Amino acid sequence: MRRRSRFLALMVAVVLTGCTKPDFSDAEKTTIASLALSSLPALKPDTTDRFADVPAAAALGSTLFFDQGMSGDGSISCSTCHKIDRQFQDDLPQAVGVGRTSRRTMPLAGVARDPWFFWDGRRDSLWAQALTPLENPLEQAGNRTAYAHYIKARFGERYERIFGPLPDLSGMPSNASPLGNDAEKAAWNAMSGAQRSAIDGVFANIGKAIAAFERSIEPAPTRFDRFALDLVTGAEPKGHAVFSKQEILGLKLFIGKANCVTCHNGPRFTDNSFHNTGVPPIAGLPPDRGRIDAVRQVEADPFNCFGAYRDGDASACGELRFMVKDAPELVRAYKTPSLRGAATRSPYMHAGQFSSLDEVVAHYAKAAPSVEGTSEVHPLGLSDRERAALVAFLKTLSE
Ligand code: HEC
Ligand code: HEC
Repeated sequence: MRRRSRFLALMVAVVLTGCTKPDFSDAEKTTIASLALSSLPALKPDTTDRFADVPAAAALGSTLFFDQGMSGDGSISCSTCHKIDRQFQDDLPQAVGVGRTSRRTMPLAGVARDPWFFWDGRRDSLWAQALTPLENPLEQAGNRTAYAHYIKARFGERYERIFGPLPDLSGMPSNASPLGNDAEKAAWNAMSGAQRSAIDGVFANIGKAIAAFERSIEPAPTRFDRFALDLVTGAEPKGHAVFSKQEILGLKLFIGKANCVTCHNGPRFTDNSFHNTGVPPIAGLPPDRGRIDAVRQVEADPFNCFGAYRDGDASACGELRFMVKDAPELVRAYKTPSLRGAATRSPYMHAGQFSSLDEVVAHYAKAAPSVEGTSEVHPLGLSDRERAALVAFLKTLSE
């Protein structure tokens, strides 16, 4: 009698919440555990940047990240696009700085763990990445010599306490850069080699300060992580951590039939690699071939791991040394984004091609061929119910 009423109570609970005790194979449990945030290893030191874990550098980097003075016209900062209350992105299909860019702003949680930066991976360190928007005419549209003058005027003491004495900037032009407009290029070419490398040294240190700040931006645990922890420890899931039948089906599909986990794997749901998934280009934007063109750009970047501004030795440069340089699969290949928080930051993909998770999942289910190169995605044969379940699961990574 008592057993029967306990059973009845359980059934009522199941009906009320729409939940059953999840039934996963050992292999599924192992995969689920590998996706949980609790399996994220500690952030490794960055030997190419000896200021990466210096608190004063991170504090200066934080100031610079939010400072509109760090732009050509005083109106744009990193945080114009990477908004602190919006997962460090801006909800736009293509970012807008001084001008309109042709790519989607990337969120920054956990970014310090990546080997490559930007959708196409055209930079190989967090500090080298930070220098690019500062001089991009569509983003912050400044130039490195002006930034050095600005740092001296506004943050000279803070800078020198961290990085040592600033170079003598008297006699240096106000605006000069090898990447600037014609006048800025001419001014750069008129500088001595020693002056140019002094400016590049200050510029690299600006990147290192900002990178030190960005290292503190880490993903937060979600409902999925609580669910996964309970599953592997055998604890009875409670409250928030209870998954509905639909969410469980979505998780099973994600790690099974729908193959999502082949690319979106590990605790950040990314394999840190580049893939062509057949995402269509947007009419009117400049041609975008993804990783295949970025390979040359990262090789040519004077601030890359082989360059003069790296700290430590070249043993840290394995990714750059052994990167795949020329292969058909690099055409229209983009970096696999983390899916943590994705449900609350539409639109999706490198140029905001899809406006909802339903559209994303429909794209994978259909697997249309790529306009150029070959998509790695194959049609999935998902029912409407299965597609909805995948979306429901993705939402558990945002709650
Ligand atoms: C105008 C908007 C805008 C501004 C300003 C901006 N970003 Fe970005 N950020 C983007 C866009 C768009 C991308 C992707 C661009 C691409 O792939 O070509 C991006 C990519 C990144 C990435 C790469 C993330 C990843 O997962 O690979 C980092 C890191 C980053 N930005 C940091 C910064 C920092 C630091 C600053 C300031 C120095 C900054 N951004 C300024 C829009 C902006
Ligand atoms: C072959 C590797 C691969 C597979 C398989 C894969 N993805 Fe992706 N995913 C990517 C890449 C690469 C992108 C970025 C593509 C782009 O921007 O052009 C992406 C983007 C996304 C995005 C957009 C995230 C954002 O912030 O813009 C979502 C959501 C997503 N994938 C979910 C899934 C789901 C769900 C599945 C399974 C049905 C799946 N992916 C299968 C590689 C893959």
